[in-house]
Amino acid sequence: MGVDIREILQKGYIDLPVEQVPDLREEIEKLKRKKNAVILAHYYEDAAVQDIADYVGDSLDLSRKAAETDAQIIVFAGVHFMAETAKILSPQKKVILPHMKAGCSLADSCPVSKFKKFIEEHAGYTVISYVNTTADIKTVTDIACTSSNALKIVQSLPENEKILFGPDRNLGEYIRNKTGRDILIWNGHCHVHERFSPERMKRIVKKYPEAKIVAHPECKQEVQEMAVFIGSTSQMLKFVQEDDGNIYIIATEPGIIHQMKKKKPEKIYIPAPPADYSKDSSICEYMKMIDLKNIYLSLTYELPEITLEAETIEKAARPIRRMLEISDKNGI
Ligand code: 13P
Ligand code: SF4
Repeated sequence: MGVDIREILQKGYIDLPVEQVPDLREEIEKLKRKKNAVILAHYYEDAAVQDIADYVGDSLDLSRKAAETDAQIIVFAGVHFMAETAKILSPQKKVILPHMKAGCSLADSCPVSKFKKFIEEHAGYTVISYVNTTADIKTVTDIACTSSNALKIVQSLPENEKILFGPDRNLGEYIRNKTGRDILIWNGHCHVHERFSPERMKRIVKKYPEAKIVAHPECKQEVQEMAVFIGSTSQMLKFVQEDDGNIYIIATEPGIIHQMKKKKPEKIYIPAPPADYSKDSSICEYMKMIDLKNIYLSLTYELPEITLEAETIEKAARPIRRMLEISDKNGI
């Protein structure tokens, strides 16, 4: 019985002998042109994947690009919820995620049945969800947000509005502390950002006293308190470019360092280490599932494809569009 490549690809990933393809980069470029496809990549992707992409950005940039593109096919070099967001914003396009198992621990920490119950128990609250959630969660959300616009979205609401925020507890605490608003927070987290070790980071600062800690708001409170700057991936990138320092400890997934080095190669970037001493950085294994090989295969077969029910798309689009409107109004 032969192997059904298309079926296996749709479910996950198949390790075909693409080594026979002489130059993956060249072939990907050719396929992109032939099929009118665009590759969108998140900053956490491997350097080779970022370099082949048409756009590299944070969650907010990429959702905007997905909404605007006139390409027929969107290859999402990122994780499942990002590709779903692209499909929700561009339902007429074919959206491909090169490895169907590229998930997200944070999205997984918020199952829809439990989140719905949380909402039902708190009638009268406005539901704000981080984009790092499934399409189903977005269907029960009032406004979506990313780490780039979360503060502005909350501040755009009337001061007495009661807010229910999910799923990231660290980002939720960060927003509550910064805005002083009445916010109930879902107890979810991202394993990549939770495992940074404050002790190991302090040791690096002892060795390089001029090192500045720059952190993502998904980091634990203790790590946030050590940071000179807290922001989304694109805000961290902007900070290190504009700041007058020379050495930084980067408390987020280390893929972003590729862009930092490109923009300011003369500066030094040290990935924040996790508590596990056998590792020097905290890698998101989901983001790293995407490589040139599966991008090539996904473009060849136009699989694995993201598909969603029309009703889900319609309901999930509302909070994302509201987020984009508020962001546009606030110049984010
Ligand atoms: P941003 O790119 O929006 O900062 O989000 C980071 C993240 O955790 C994506 O998974
Ligand atoms: Fe999800 Fe964390 Fe990976 Fe981002 S870094 S995709 S939040 S698991």
